[in-house]
Amino acid sequence: MRKNIVAGNWKMNKTLQEGLDLAKGLDAALKGKSLNCDVVIGTPFIHLASVAAAIDTKKIAVSAQNCADKASGAYTGEVSAAMVKSTGAEYVILGHSERREYYHETPEILKEKVLLALANGLKVIFCIGESLAEREANKQNAVCKAELEGSVFNLSAEDFAKITIAYEPIWAIGTGKTATSDQAEEIHAYIRSVIADKYGKEVAENTSILYGGSCKGSNAPELFSKPNIDGGLIGGASLNVEDFCAIIKAF
Ligand code: 13P
Repeated sequence: MRKNIVAGNWKMNKTLQEGLDLAKGLDAALKGKSLNCDVVIGTPFIHLASVAAAIDTKKIAVSAQNCADKASGAYTGEVSAAMVKSTGAEYVILGHSERREYYHETPEILKEKVLLALANGLKVIFCIGESLAEREANKQNAVCKAELEGSVFNLSAEDFAKITIAYEPIWAIGTGKTATSDQAEEIHAYIRSVIADKYGKEVAENTSILYGGSCKGSNAPELFSKPNIDGGLIGGASLNVEDFCAIIKAF
């Protein structure tokens, strides 16, 4: 059976000291609690090793928010999948719309990143989702399908099983405008059907599909009650312990 996952994406927030405080605070808040979901925190690169050493990573997995599309060598400023793995991180978030838009990450670049992440033993949270203009033109299904085909449908079924999908409508990210639970459920069911067409029903049923975009404690219970919504990828509300725990409690 697929897992429920609540994953935080801190984006470019928190100094190292602030990030360590947040991670330790979350660790303390969850200590001794039995949870109905896996918990992941996606920190900036520089936090990964310190955070992984400071918390119980069996309870809270650590994720990077990106990795390089090259294995190693003369790529100044880049961080490889092997380096991410060596910090104790278990996951990497790839394909976030902010990376696609502001850093021009194409489907081909993302395909390389996914391959390198998997080759280095990282699990991938792969983000897809349409813009407001695409939603208004009713192109959301086509956009999501193309993003899957462009970067992850080259994988074997065995490798695809290491991928978690995050559906993040760009118009809902950081805007306070959440997709309704019915809107999200509809497209999550569609995404699962596309995976079933490619890899078969069993793989599709075992794939966790997270919702992202202004998800918070107040709307998480309704979103997570839908059969095809297996958790959330959380931006703003992952930046403090109380807000993030409220979402974890939704499971
Ligand atoms: P917000 O939760 O701040 O809308 O961000 C969502 C997101 O982009 C997570 O990756």
